[in-house]
Amino acid sequence: MRIVLGIESSCDETAVSVVREDRVILSQALATQQQDHAPYGGVVPEIAARAHLAQIDRLYQRALADANLTIHEVDAVAATAGPGLIGGVIVGLMFGKSLAAAASKPLIAVNHLEGHALTVRLTHDVQFPYFLLLISGGHCQQLVVRGVGDYVRLGTTRDDALGEAFDKCAKMLGLPYPGGPALEAAALRGNPSAYKFPRPMVGDGGCDFSLSGLKTAVRLTIEKEVARAGALNETIIADVAASFQAAVLDVLADRITNALAIATTQYPLTAIAVAGGVAANQAIGTALRQLAQAHHLPLVVAPPALCTDNAAMIAWVGVERLRLGLTDSLDIEPRARWPLSA
Ligand code: KG4
Ligand code: ZN
Repeated sequence: MRIVLGIESSCDETAVSVVREDRVILSQALATQQQDHAPYGGVVPEIAARAHLAQIDRLYQRALADANLTIHEVDAVAATAGPGLIGGVIVGLMFGKSLAAAASKPLIAVNHLEGHALTVRLTHDVQFPYFLLLISGGHCQQLVVRGVGDYVRLGTTRDDALGEAFDKCAKMLGLPYPGGPALEAAALRGNPSAYKFPRPMVGDGGCDFSLSGLKTAVRLTIEKEVARAGALNETIIADVAASFQAAVLDVLADRITNALAIATTQYPLTAIAVAGGVAANQAIGTALRQLAQAHHLPLVVAPPALCTDNAAMIAWVGVERLRLGLTDSLDIEPRARWPLSA
């Protein structure tokens, strides 16, 4: 049975994991840099690159020790080669190349997005083709996953990613970084119809997203409320959060309905999968369950720790690619941008 060691370093998590072909995660060592970036309210690329470098060797040693293996018992090394913050990607990919070269193992250069896309095959054994909604801090895409390396993109964001919109609105409301979970918690206490925020693109029949107009509407509302009330208070924060989230839910429902209308006529979909950090949002989860039911498809969501950035998903792509003989040469270059489909 094939065993792959995976490395992830494209954003603010440094992670190393060992995964076996029978879908068993043998180990997962992860260090998040959230505390390092929190004072700046977002990920600082230079700080991220240095932190990856400081952590990666220790995490590598721990991942092997926890899996009770040596590097010689691993069949391949998989490392994120993009897309992402280039300094971090360089650290992880060079580390992976060095390991592969020193231990004479094949290298698999992984597209981080393919990691998110194939995670449900690690956690739930989902068969191709399936629909994927990828909603994270850096991405907001609707795809049909037809096979390994075979993606059809139905829609993407024209400006902000969904997690980015949550984070920016949370920051405007004075909520702590990363804002997504804090904004969801605040929304639970608020009135979702307190403010009438726009639902960008809704009704145009397409599958793309545009979230910057919604963000601007939130900013203008906050400025108006601060001018009126003198300062932000708990009620305004909760009401803005709830109204923002309600707008997001309407946008998601409209966009996904359009994408599924196209996807279901062209492909025998087996499931609707959701990946990325925003998949942890309960209100979004409930809305997606309803959509999936209406389309008579199972909704598959990985556990939160495998929805957010991790190395098990990179190792799993390694397993899938190794199985197909898809390995890479050591001169492969790191890529800041790397779309999943043409
Ligand atoms: O997948 P991820 O860990 O990193 C990226 O590759 O971007 O996603 C992180 C994003 C952040 O924007 C974070 O605020 C958002 O996911 N997020 C949430 C929730 N939990 C995390 N957004 C909304 N509601 C949540 N509960
Ligand atoms: Zn990610």
